[in-house]
Amino acid sequence: MKKILCIGAGYVGGPTMAVIADRCPEYRITVVDINEKRIAAWNSDHLPIYEPGLEAVVKRCRNRNLFYSNDIPGSIREADIIFVSVNTPTKTFGAGAGKAADLQYLEKTARSIVEYAENDKIVVEKSTLPVRTAQAISRILHSNTKNLKFQIISNPEFLAEGTAIADLENPDRVLIGGMETPEGKKAIAEVAAIYEHWVPRERIITTNLWSSELTKLVSNALLAQRVSSVNSISALCEKTGANISEVTAAAGRDSRIGPKFLTASIGFGGSCFKKDILNLVYLCGYYGLQEVADYWEQVVKMNDFQARRFVANMLAAMFNTVADKKIAILGFAFKADTGDTRESPAIAVCRQLLDEHAKLAIHDPKALDNARTDLEDARGIIDFCEDPYDAVKNAHAIALMTDWSCFRRLDFRRIFDLMEKPAFLFDGRNLLDHEALYRIGFNVYPIGRKALTHFPAAN
Ligand code: NAD
Ligand code: UGA
Repeated sequence: MKKILCIGAGYVGGPTMAVIADRCPEYRITVVDINEKRIAAWNSDHLPIYEPGLEAVVKRCRNRNLFYSNDIPGSIREADIIFVSVNTPTKTFGAGAGKAADLQYLEKTARSIVEYAENDKIVVEKSTLPVRTAQAISRILHSNTKNLKFQIISNPEFLAEGTAIADLENPDRVLIGGMETPEGKKAIAEVAAIYEHWVPRERIITTNLWSSELTKLVSNALLAQRVSSVNSISALCEKTGANISEVTAAAGRDSRIGPKFLTASIGFGGSCFKKDILNLVYLCGYYGLQEVADYWEQVVKMNDFQARRFVANMLAAMFNTVADKKIAILGFAFKADTGDTRESPAIAVCRQLLDEHAKLAIHDPKALDNARTDLEDARGIIDFCEDPYDAVKNAHAIALMTDWSCFRRLDFRRIFDLMEKPAFLFDGRNLLDHEALYRIGFNVYPIGRKALTHFPAAN
């Protein structure tokens, strides 16, 4: 029985290994983490992350061929293939602070592998990494004095949160990069053999190491760039009377452009888009390509602008002050169907509203615990509400931050009755039926579309 180990039991390692275990019953999969609480949660009825469909897969495989363990040395010793799926956040200190990837967790993992390995292994980069990281990993691994040989493979993960299980079960592509040597090709084939259990061969792409590492950064950059492009145009729509949804629907009908990832919003969030683009920006600067770095940095700047613009629009609509006014924040997760709030645009919006001395009541179906942690310093002055109707009671405005479909089913007539008047609704996701809300009595402010208000036009 082949033994696979995954180091890092987070949003990627957890679901990815569950699906591999499910589809490859003859492999024994172990997932380890330095965070013992996280491992305990993976072994409990309350998994550490919320992801639709995840629980069923974990329950099918756990303690069959899927094991969550704290025994890092023993698991490294036994493994034939080691996936490394540790976090690679933006560096907050020293050279490259604010842009470069912080590779300390990755390096510590590589050093643990050197320390405990007793035979040759394939080490797979699952984490998102700067191009040419495999070279550094290889140097650390081959510094061993046990004469062990390691093959480094890059196998970046493209799953999106909220649809992780569906993405893993039916990926557009699986990318596997390796050295262009006979041993490298053999290692690529071994990793490809895992995915071949359920992914059609034509969707498994093999490349050299550096192309694979760089493709991951580029894929995220291109996706985020689409969102920033559309959000930049949403600002122009608000000035000109064009409707962003009509513009993107018509533009997206061009098969060269395509309809996906063109939804205007309060801005992209999530743990990766910003960090991966900044990493790309850093790399371009490092290689002396300042114009290329500036080009990509603009995607992040536009995203920050969109959140600031949203709050500026709120202030302007609400008579230039929100001080002492209660504002209900509907949704705190960075997107629907996840409890993850990392880099959620809701954080920036809430902080700006707090700076304006607004009183906040936050509701989210899955992300309230994370919201409490993110806004720990402001806890006493924020209400965290399990019930959306408590959040909106006596509120002057609603700011909708996350595209949870359950928000569409709220009783907005009841909500309107509970709120102060005039009642404002700022839809940061263009999720709701704006005409219907306007008919109830709300003053509605979408993104990139004309506001629907009951105020007489100014002279
Ligand atoms: P995460 O923070 O949820 O999980 C990483 C885990 O690694 C943590 O539980 C941490 O305790 C553990 N860890 C850190 N150092 C360790 C060590 N030395 N030994 C053992 N465990 C260690 O992160 P994530 O969201 O799963 O992301 C992991 C990587 O995958 C990142 O590089 C990210 O960019 C990439 N990625 C993330 C997503 C996503 O949707 N979250 C998608 C694709 C790729
Ligand atoms: C993204 C990529 O889609 C994954 O392929 C990648 O693996 C992952 O990053 C990663 O490397 O971490 P994720 O961040 O989980 O996945 O979610 P997305 O669906 O990409 O959404 C990102 C953000 O963009 C969310 O805040 C979402 O609301 C926003 N978005 C997305 C828009 O504002 N408009 C859109 O049209 C699409």
